[in-house]
Amino acid sequence: MKVLIVGGGGREHALAWKCAQSPRVREVLVAPGNAGTAAEPRVRNVDIAASDFPRLLELARREAVALTIIGPEAPLVAGIVDAFQAAGLRCFGPSRLAARLEGSKSFSKDFLQRHGIPTAAYRSFTRGNFDRAWLRSQRAPIVVKASGLASGKGVVIAQSLDEAEAAVAEMFSGRFGDAGAEVVIEQFLQGEEASFIVMADGEHVLPLATSQDHKRLQDGDLGPNTGGMGAYSPAPVVTGAVHERVMREIITPSIRGLSRDGTPYTGFLYAGLMIAADGTPMVLEFNCRFGDPEAQPVLARLESDLISLCEAALEGGLDRVEAHWDRRAAVAVVLAAAGYPDAVRSGDPIAGLDAAAGRPGKVFHAGTRRAHGRVLTSGGRVLCAVGLGDRVSDAQRQAYALVDCIRYQGMQYRHDIAHRAIARELSAAAGRPIDATRQGGHG
Ligand SMILES: Nc1ncnc2c1ncn2[C@@H]1O[C@H](COP(=O)(O)OP(=O)(O)O)[C@@H](O)[C@H]1O
Ligand SMILES: [Mg+2]
Repeated sequence: MKVLIVGGGGREHALAWKCAQSPRVREVLVAPGNAGTAAEPRVRNVDIAASDFPRLLELARREAVALTIIGPEAPLVAGIVDAFQAAGLRCFGPSRLAARLEGSKSFSKDFLQRHGIPTAAYRSFTRGNFDRAWLRSQRAPIVVKASGLASGKGVVIAQSLDEAEAAVAEMFSGRFGDAGAEVVIEQFLQGEEASFIVMADGEHVLPLATSQDHKRLQDGDLGPNTGGMGAYSPAPVVTGAVHERVMREIITPSIRGLSRDGTPYTGFLYAGLMIAADGTPMVLEFNCRFGDPEAQPVLARLESDLISLCEAALEGGLDRVEAHWDRRAAVAVVLAAAGYPDAVRSGDPIAGLDAAAGRPGKVFHAGTRRAHGRVLTSGGRVLCAVGLGDRVSDAQRQAYALVDCIRYQGMQYRHDIAHRAIARELSAAAGRPIDATRQGGHG
């Protein structure tokens, strides 16, 4: 069969690479893809933007594509799955209405509240009904979020109420376009974050391996927020007990709530969680797709056939399948372009990809393109190097050995991806009593 992956980033390279390993797949098409997908065996790029639904539909029909998987959020929120379904084509992802869970943070918070699912206390405002006196009666730190899609840049952790008010004013003044026409202001939560990603079929869920993302640009979690500078899987903060609570208190009621609300959810569902010191999970946000960069380490560990899992989901049969995981840990280090996350340089030649390809691990491409026989930078996040290892520290070493092969002008990356998991590993090895709720990991 032929499979189509929509998108062109690191997540889509990982999805295409994984799908191409399926014995059932003859060819994987990627629209538009990148230089990494172009070089992958059994994978072919097609130069169509993820937003161009008519041409994507025409492609899927012409090539007799049996399954389409949507990578990024924007086409999902714009209703690409509805368009494919209306044309009688199988497409894995949530409908436009279900994707509002990511497309509108205010919708998502109201949904959580209505269904009694734990999340930070909040209020949402438009310019017309903004209650400044209410904000002034709150305590800092406090979190201000543009409600719409803002590529990971629409959240301000305000350290004072003045800063919060300035952030609200900036959002209303159009800094994030329509995404900031509505804002959510919410309580600041303490704890450790985890990415909890599941596949859903409207009724049942299959939890994928857990992971943890690194949002800040610089080592030690400093500097501005980014789309994600690295990730690893599994996330030891999600112990067996925490996993069980997340499923019972968050995932199951969310899937049930969506179904009851008449918008059943099929696709990857990503819950961004804050896990408090006592193991209590709260929802920070939902994403309606696989995470990027979480997809890279999670899919590197997936041993099961992804196509079969997607098909089971489209047939409402996720209760009848299991996912098998490589027991090793995976660490993924993002290589970003100069200037990221603001205005980035692009068009610089990338050296060392062949040397990296000869080493263990895998380099996924994100913002890359091929021109005149060379691979050039072409976006904020350029590459993502994934290492595997029995210990997280081994996986980290393998990932950084790949990074050391690669060079381009202004390359930026963090040197400490997976530092939390490695600190736990070190304290466990030294026999130091670490917080009992945090030992082990799940998935
Ligand atoms: N209520 C909160 N308390 C503490 N930190 C938060 C809170 N909400 C968001 N954050 C931080 O801001 C980051 C981005 O927020 P999130 O809601 O995930 O939005 P997005 O991913 O769309 O930018 C989170 O990963 C987390 O680090
Ligand atoms: Mg997030």
